[in-house]
Amino acid sequence: MTAPRVAVVGSCNVDVIVSVPRLPARGETVLGSDPVRAPGGKGANQAVAARRWGSPTFLVASVGEDSEGTWVLDNALTRGVDVSACRRSHRPTGVAYITVDDRGENQIVVAPGANADLRVESLPEVDVVLAQLEVVLEPIIELLDREVPLVLNASPTGRATLALMERCAVVVVNELEAKEIDLGRLGHCVVTRGARGASVWHFGEETHSVPAPRVEAIDTVGAGDAFCAAYALEWARGESPDVVLRRAVYAGAFATTAPGAQGALPTREEILTWIDAES
Ligand code: RIB
Repeated sequence: MTAPRVAVVGSCNVDVIVSVPRLPARGETVLGSDPVRAPGGKGANQAVAARRWGSPTFLVASVGEDSEGTWVLDNALTRGVDVSACRRSHRPTGVAYITVDDRGENQIVVAPGANADLRVESLPEVDVVLAQLEVVLEPIIELLDREVPLVLNASPTGRATLALMERCAVVVVNELEAKEIDLGRLGHCVVTRGARGASVWHFGEETHSVPAPRVEAIDTVGAGDAFCAAYALEWARGESPDVVLRRAVYAGAFATTAPGAQGALPTREEILTWIDAES
């Protein structure tokens, strides 16, 4: 099968990353490294990951009219993503403030800015739509009226309603987010568990589970995005549930091996070769 075409609907941010020896507790101040700026946002990360995985990829996003907006869109364009459906807003480009500790664990605060102005005016002809929730909810709800299957990374979960998630083809959340969701109501939900891998749930029953391979994790930011892109594209290809899950788990693990959300996004071939070598 040829690679599925995908539209990624979601956020574009400038990530401001600070390394710290450990994540601060509530009310605590911790000294960190010099800040590093990198292109990020779950939408942009998943679009770049999907393109790297080999799919024609369209990003639908909203960035500011500022230089940061130009910078994040140029980055996606340079990496082969079609950004012609992105819009510019009077609000500032979104910023994510990220702290990463010695073990690669992170905390993130997102100031959405222009992401709040996202609209889906025209959707290119695609096989699958991949969306997340760092943007306003209305355009995501409208996507359900299109004929294309919607894979929703329901992150951050606070905005996800069960009514929305029940109508998605696939919902992906991490294990913390899963605690806020009634898995029993979802026919195809995927729960990621970091270094412990991921599992697939069908109306509250775990049907498949895959452990993560051992890697030297440097930065876990963006691992979920690499996972979501690989999962959506392998699922859209019609691969078996075990194969889809394994490839996505390995893609997520690969993404932790370099700093930054887009620093180590794998090609499909790299992941297939890695899995072959381990079996
Ligand atoms: O999923 C990682 C992303 O979450 C970061 O790039 C940051 O922008 C936040 O949106």
